[in-house]
Amino acid sequence: MKTTNTEQAGSLDIRLLGDPVLNSKAGEVEAIDDRLVKLAATMYDVMKEARGIGLTAPQIGVSKRFFVYDLGDGLKTIINPEIKESSGEWQFDEGCLSVPGYTFNITRPKEIFVKGLDIDGNPVEVEADELFSRLIQHEVDHLDGVLLLERLDEDKRRKALAEIRKASEF
Ligand code: NI
Repeated sequence: MKTTNTEQAGSLDIRLLGDPVLNSKAGEVEAIDDRLVKLAATMYDVMKEARGIGLTAPQIGVSKRFFVYDLGDGLKTIINPEIKESSGEWQFDEGCLSVPGYTFNITRPKEIFVKGLDIDGNPVEVEADELFSRLIQHEVDHLDGVLLLERLDEDKRRKALAEIRKASEF
C-alpha cells in the first residue's frame, strides 16, 4: 500500500495492474524457510525504494500469503494473515504500488483483529486501527487477488480505469 501520490522510483520489479498474478488468490505459506526470509528482505528493499508502506508477495510475482510493511518502526512481516473481526468505518485516500500514481478515497472497516505468523513462525495477534488497519486490509485483499479498484463503486471504478488506460497510452 502507498499513502501519497509520490514519484515512482526504481520499482521495476513490482507487478502492475493487468498482471494476472494480481488477480489470483495466493496460497498458504507452508514453511518459513531461508528462502522466504530472504524473499521478505528483498520485498522490503523493493517497497522502500518505491516509497511504499506495505508490499505483498504476489506483487513481486510470488503467489504466497504474506506481506511486509513498515509504519515507521522497522520491517515487519505477517504470514498467512486472517482477519477475524472488523468494526466501524473509516475513509482514507488509498494508493497501491501496483497502481502507481493514483489514490482513491475508499471506506473500509476502521478496526480489525488479525491473526497470523511473524517471520520467526511465532503466532501474532494484532488489534489494528485506522492506518495500520487499512494497510492490513489492503494487503490481505492482494493475497485474495483483489485490487483497490475493486473496492470502488462501479461508476468510480469505470472512471478510474478509463483514466488509467488513457494515461498509459503515452
Ligand atoms: Ni497495493
